[in-house]
Formats: sequence, C-alpha cells, structure tokens
Amino acid sequence: MSDSTQKVAIVTGGSQGIGAGLVDGYRQRGWAVVANSLTIKPSKDPDVLTIQGDVSKQATADQIVGQALDRFGRVDTLVNNAGVFVSKPFTDYTAADYALVTGVNLAGFFWLTQRAIGQMLRQGSGHVVNISASVADHADIAEPTALAALTKGGLAAVTRSLAAEYASRGIRVNAVAPGIIQTPLHPAESYTPAALAGKLPPLGHVGQVSDIVDGILYLESAPFVTGEVLHIDGGRTAGH
Ligand SMILES: NC(=O)c1ccc[n+]([C@@H]2O[C@H](COP(=O)([O-])OP(=O)(O)OC[C@H]3O[C@@H](n4cnc5c(N)ncnc54)[C@H](OP(=O)(O)O)[C@@H]3O)[C@@H](O)[C@H]2O)c1
Repeated sequence: MSDSTQKVAIVTGGSQGIGAGLVDGYRQRGWAVVANSLTIKPSKDPDVLTIQGDVSKQATADQIVGQALDRFGRVDTLVNNAGVFVSKPFTDYTAADYALVTGVNLAGFFWLTQRAIGQMLRQGSGHVVNISASVADHADIAEPTALAALTKGGLAAVTRSLAAEYASRGIRVNAVAPGIIQTPLHPAESYTPAALAGKLPPLGHVGQVSDIVDGILYLESAPFVTGEVLHIDGGRTAGH
C-alpha cells in the first residue's frame, strides 16, 4: 500500500482518449490512479494500477474498488468516463445497440458508483465525476443520437440527484458534458474540415482531450461546486 495521504482516483475507460488523459492529469498532480478498460495494459508506473474488465458488470465494479483499496487503501475520486456512442435513426437501433449503450453508459456508472460512494462514506469525503455529453442538451438533426441523449441525459440528472443526496456527508458529485472532442471514439476522417462542415460549435473548432482534463481537474479543486454539469463544448450548448 502507498502513503495513505496520497489521494486515489479511479478512472474508467482509461486506455485511450479522455480517460488516458485523465490518468496522466491525476498522476501529474501526484495522485495514485486505478484505471479500468476492456483492453487496458499493465502500467510501469507503480502508482497506476490497471484493471481489465467490462465496467457494465457488477463483478468488475467489485474488482475495481476492492483492488483500489488493497493497493492504495482509499478512493477519493471516481471518474465515470468509459462510454460508447452509436448514432442511428431511432427506429434502427437494435437490442444489441440498446444493451451495449445502456450497459456501458448507465450500468457502468451505476454499479461502480454505488461501491465507490460506499467507501467514500466510510472515509467521510469523496468526489464523483460523470462524463455526460452536450448532445443530451442540444440535439442536432444532422446526427441522430437518441441513445446518447437517453444515457448521457440520465447521467446529468443523476449527478444532481446524488449531489443533493450526499452533500451533507462530504461527497461532491459533478459532471462534464463534452462537445466534439478529438479522440479515437470517432474515426480520424470525421475530424477533417469537410467532415466537420456545419458541425463546428461557435468557437469554430473541435476540443482536445486536454480541454476535458482541465475541466475535471478544475472540479477537483473546487470544494464549493457540486451538482454542476460543466459544458466543455466550444459554446455548442449556448447556441449557434
Ligand atoms: N469524444 C467525444 O467527442 C465525446 C463527446 C461527448 C462525450 N464523450 C464521452 O467522453 C467519454 C470518453 O470518450 P472518448 O472520446 O475518450 O472515447 P474513446 O476514445 O472511445 O475511449 C473510450 C474508453 O472506454 C472504454 N470502454 C468501452 N467499453 C467499455 C467497457 N464495457 N468496460 C470498460 N471500459 C470500456 C474503452 O476501453 P478499450 O480501449 O479497452 O476498449 C476506452 O478506454 C465517453 O463517456 C464519451 O461518451 C466523448
């Protein structure tokens, strides 16, 4: 076990994209990190514990929190970052699409957050950050996103619900709602000027992983902020 004063963050979906940026961001602040994803590889950094597994399963949630406690002794922050995105006309979604998206985006949040908050209650403090999406507030007729709206809108709502439920016990719950961020979630060709024509937000460009990491680290250092859904979307939710 490490120095018990070292803070510990759990980051799901930590193998690439925003999650990998978060692993680096928390490490740069001196935190230990437990990073999960389906395919994540072991880390050479002794303060990064990686755990492969499907976050939609309760057994994975048990493993993540159990191993975090065995290795580092505490859980200060959980970032529910793992997520999947399937865009189709609403009537084309299959049972497999529904199971995948609700499994990762909602069950993945649900089981792990229950267990993490259980530990935070024992410690008397903690912080949960959910990754929502700006499409939950601002639909775009060019790209149908009903399953993203359903799941990411649910995460925004439950952020406020849990923030109120646990505020008196020292636990804050916040969310960030990214707009279009350049990550491996979308194929590289979807970030070309031609592909982005008509899709850019008011600031005129897509966001980078660092924009989201900076927002989450801001929430980490903001003890009077809870129940907030921080839009990091170049002004997309504000309008166009
Ligand atoms: N990029 C955007 O424009 C954008 C916009 C709005 C919201 N978001 C949200 O931001 C978050 C991060 O997105 P990203 O762009 O960084 O995506 P990404 O590059 O596709 O990374 C997704 C991560 O989730 C992990 N993952 C997928 N299914 C999993 C499962 N069943 N169990 C555990 N881990 C699983 C992946 O693991 P493996 O690598 O092992 O498969 C990967 O580490 C997601 O919640 C996404 O919905 C992104």
